[in-house]
Amino acid sequence: MTERAVARIDVGAVERNCARLPKPLCAVVKADAYGHGVELVAEAALAGGATWLAVATAAEAAELRRLAADVPILVMGAVTRDELRVAMEAGADLVAWSEEVAEAAPRVHVKLDTGMGRLGTRDRDLALRLAAGANTVGLMTHFATADEPGDELFGAQLDEFRRFVAEVGRDDLLVHAANSAAALRDPASHFDMVRCGVAIYGLDPFQSDPAEHGLEPALSLHSWVASVRCIEPGGTVGYGRRWRAEAPTWVATVPVGYGDGWRRALTNDCDVLIGGRRYPLVGAVSMDNVTVALGAEPAAAVGDEVVLLGAQGGERILAEEVARRMSTINYEVTTGLLPRIRREQVR
Ligand SMILES: Cc1ncc(COP(=O)(O)O)c(C=O)c1O
Repeated sequence: MTERAVARIDVGAVERNCARLPKPLCAVVKADAYGHGVELVAEAALAGGATWLAVATAAEAAELRRLAADVPILVMGAVTRDELRVAMEAGADLVAWSEEVAEAAPRVHVKLDTGMGRLGTRDRDLALRLAAGANTVGLMTHFATADEPGDELFGAQLDEFRRFVAEVGRDDLLVHAANSAAALRDPASHFDMVRCGVAIYGLDPFQSDPAEHGLEPALSLHSWVASVRCIEPGGTVGYGRRWRAEAPTWVATVPVGYGDGWRRALTNDCDVLIGGRRYPLVGAVSMDNVTVALGAEPAAAVGDEVVLLGAQGGERILAEEVARRMSTINYEVTTGLLPRIRREQVR
């Protein structure tokens, strides 16, 4: 290790994940590519066959434009008047659900809210009016439950959007609806393009195992054993003495913590890999360190590599596992890694 903690981003995995997804593909690279580093990911997504890139904010579009000069960019989020100008200067398309944006921006994708209840308009007449506009180049919606197979809202949203597209009746518009889960689950949701985020990073939108969909996790998180000590019975480690040794136990200190985005909710509740074996994190996650129980023997030495996410030997720890332990989703595990962790490109 050259530093206390690093996230390795396998751009070959991003490329292969994109290649496996339906086309045309818009790669969603908002929030610094779900924590993977947009600078590392954008090019790999395009190499894997993505022909559009999507972000949430105007500032993200401006940054992305510096990385990808000629690629169509879609800003999917709500924008203020000033942000609208930034997005337009970046040559990005915008999503519109009001006259104001539809008239101000040269290229808009009209968004019908078919059940997400967040952005887009539920007012069908307004949507039809906007869809007829000269600046309109696309029609879109967003699914709320595509990741819950069997949920009835997904089919209802798809039906409503299909009826809307038919009623608009223009064949010069780019029609798109599917996120990763929809793209993997139902070809009827593909229309003219899919908008995939989580899947391009090799994360499973269904929170199970990405390999079930032929996806490879692109991010692995590495640190190192900085200190090893034996804790005698009754002895404790960390803030609040949240773990107590019942027998003599060797404990390794690993310099990564919630100041890096390795969340305190993982206190006494996750495993790490050292020498290709799982060891439990014990005690409280602190800002800069975690502690790991090695057992009755000093099974690791100062300098050994520690894997918090990813594979080592025959073992692996998926973001889906860490997410389950924190009662969240894999999206938040990678997106939550903070800038203190350098992203390093590997292939
Ligand atoms: C409008 C929209 N489309 C597509 C996506 C991509 O979703 P996913 O990462 O589940 O593929 C997002 C992400 O949240 C989104 O907000």
